[in-house]
Amino acid sequence: MSPFMTYFLFLFFALAAVVSAAPLIPRDDFVPPILYPQAGTVWTVGQKHNVTWSLNNVPSQITNPNGKLVLAKGGYLIGLDKPIAQNFSIALGRIEITVPDVQEPGNDYALVLFGNSGNSSPNFTINK
Ligand SMILES: *[C@@H]1O[C@H](CO)[C@@H](O)[C@H](O)[C@H]1NC(C)=O
Ligand SMILES: *[C@@H]1O[C@H](CO)[C@@H](O)[C@H](O)[C@H]1NC(C)=O
Ligand SMILES: *[C@@H]1O[C@H](CO)[C@@H](O)[C@H](O)[C@H]1NC(C)=O
Repeated sequence: MSPFMTYFLFLFFALAAVVSAAPLIPRDDFVPPILYPQAGTVWTVGQKHNVTWSLNNVPSQITNPNGKLVLAKGGYLIGLDKPIAQNFSIALGRIEITVPDVQEPGNDYALVLFGNSGNSSPNFTINK
């Protein structure tokens, strides 16, 4: 076999090894449970708070580490076009937010943390 052919075959098998190994790299949807706010939390418009989430069971490679926090009221997302926070790393475990100026106070607000999928906090209260 010519040296060129040997090199070519080596390259071929090296590439094949890389391709077949690729699916073994752990890739996971990681959307951790929100720890704060909790049920019973009361926030006032304009205050700053750290929303926090669990970093237990963080996979070695997060498919989408880019986080987004969206407000919900009465079980419905109300701020998809105006996230409370976005483009932060989910690996941080917390993000400081300013309580948005909601139209009406209520005890049925929740925050949904998005990575690839969503995870909701319990309902909590926002006062004016
Ligand atoms: C949020 O957490 C950071 C880091 O612990 C801290 O520096 C900051 O003061 C906290 N913000 C609030 C509003 O508690
Ligand atoms: C919040 O309350 C609404 C009803 O007002 C309910 O539909 C929704 O499931 C609750 N959300 C959570 C996360 O418990
Ligand atoms: C998101 O964060 C990345 C890295 O910090 C930055 O390059 C990018 O411009 C940000 N995108 C938005 C929409 O803020």
